[in-house]
Amino acid sequence: MILDKVILEKEIKTYPQKDFSKVDNDKRVFVETYGCQMNFSDTEIVLSVLSDFGYNESSDIINSDIILLNTCSVREHAETKIFNRLNDLKKYKKANPNLVIGILGCMAERLRKELLENQKVVDLIVGPDEYRKLPGLIDNVIETGDKGIAVRLSKVETYDDITPVRKDGVSAWISVMRGCDKFCTFCVVPFTRGRERSRKLENIVKEAKRLSNEGVKDIYLLGQNVNSYHDGEYDFPDLLKACAEAVPDVRIRYITSHPYDLSVKLLETMASYDNVCKFIHLPIQSGSDRILNLMNRLYTVEQYLNVIQKAREFMPDIGLSTDIISCFPSETEEEHNMTLDVMKEVKYDGAFTFTYSPRENTKAFRLKNDIDKETRKRRLEEIIELQRKNSYDVNKKIVGNQKEVLLESKSKRSDDYLMGRTDCNKSVIIPRVLSMINGNGINHSSKIFSPGEFVNVKINKVNSATLFGTPVI
Ligand code: SAH
Ligand code: SF4
Ligand code: F3S
Repeated sequence: MILDKVILEKEIKTYPQKDFSKVDNDKRVFVETYGCQMNFSDTEIVLSVLSDFGYNESSDIINSDIILLNTCSVREHAETKIFNRLNDLKKYKKANPNLVIGILGCMAERLRKELLENQKVVDLIVGPDEYRKLPGLIDNVIETGDKGIAVRLSKVETYDDITPVRKDGVSAWISVMRGCDKFCTFCVVPFTRGRERSRKLENIVKEAKRLSNEGVKDIYLLGQNVNSYHDGEYDFPDLLKACAEAVPDVRIRYITSHPYDLSVKLLETMASYDNVCKFIHLPIQSGSDRILNLMNRLYTVEQYLNVIQKAREFMPDIGLSTDIISCFPSETEEEHNMTLDVMKEVKYDGAFTFTYSPRENTKAFRLKNDIDKETRKRRLEEIIELQRKNSYDVNKKIVGNQKEVLLESKSKRSDDYLMGRTDCNKSVIIPRVLSMINGNGINHSSKIFSPGEFVNVKINKVNSATLFGTPVI
């Protein structure tokens, strides 16, 4: 596949571009985001590009002028969801024939023209490297009714100069690199996101400082393959160090890392800074070397386990999570059990587990998807059940201990409780108000907690997903 092939239907540059500063234009854009954090972070870039041209975000789908779906292609199910959603959107278009509907993100990139041809309701297709063209494309649909497509992949686009439009909150994302060069044989990402490229270290550090000044307390450095970040002589540990030093009161995390690029220098850097979270999401995918080789994952189980061992030598309490693909073509029962064995050995805090989904144009697509439905269901259930048990066992050990928790938001279940996270990425629920009885046993006072605060919490109770505790003052 030629990744940089230009298949613009029309040369976008020739479209008339309105000067929105001169017209009273306030078009309302409703955006729905699917997929990974990179997509959520891209939506913030899209909103920034659009707001410069008079298109502002709206949370009211019924009265919006433009609906954009930022989509994911990673598994078939992710795409089915979008097709169903497009069916749903037909009613809005019926009610308002001038409504513009656009598909952004990985599905736009993967399906390109096919989406425009098969989905009559869609007016626009814009891939992840073409968001600067969105205002011109939308404008053109509004003025001429012509559909638009822009799906060129870039070797250089990083949106480095764009200030994302963020919702207020304790946490923020900074995309530090885009694309992926790893070409795991099951994965569409290198085709939908193109080649790896990194932003300038100094601009990322500036963004971290700006976020910190705005009150952000928790920064995620994002990339499909974040630890292969490179800006000239600076590598990912250099970036992590620079961010940790620039904003010492802010927690810094990163996601997602590839075991192949996880260096001792990175572990050393993580261990050296209190504000770098002691947590790594390190996808293993399979516990069998034969399958890992078929997946082109570039490591063996032994090498992977060595990385985990080193990480625990540097940071004994480190939190670890992983991704697992069950039932890759030709996976035997023994190989499935090898995956369970690795899980038992590592005892991850959490795992995202998937059944293999064949994706067209990937190398693995040519392999026969030869595992029957029942076996697929059973193997995934075994993996999920083991992880549930492991998560519970790991969490149980925390009962009675104190953890520093960064409060993020109200608890989903009740306004009387707040949700926060430990350094190791565990969700913790605490009461919003703490009543205190003074020494004499008569005078009562209370302390009210709010998102954005760091609190020491004594953990009283756990389940496999959540810790529950009381603040210690
Ligand atoms: N860049 C990240 C992962 C991106 S996709 C990394 O390499 O770690 C997130 C996860 O989706 C992958 O780790 C993998 O477990 C899963 N995944 C990707 N393609 C898949 C497919 N074709 N079928 C099932 N799961 C898949
Ligand atoms: Fe996909 Fe592999 Fe790249 Fe991750 S490292 S995005 S799984 S190709
Ligand atoms: Fe999905 Fe694209 Fe992310 S395929 S997982 S949205 S990079």
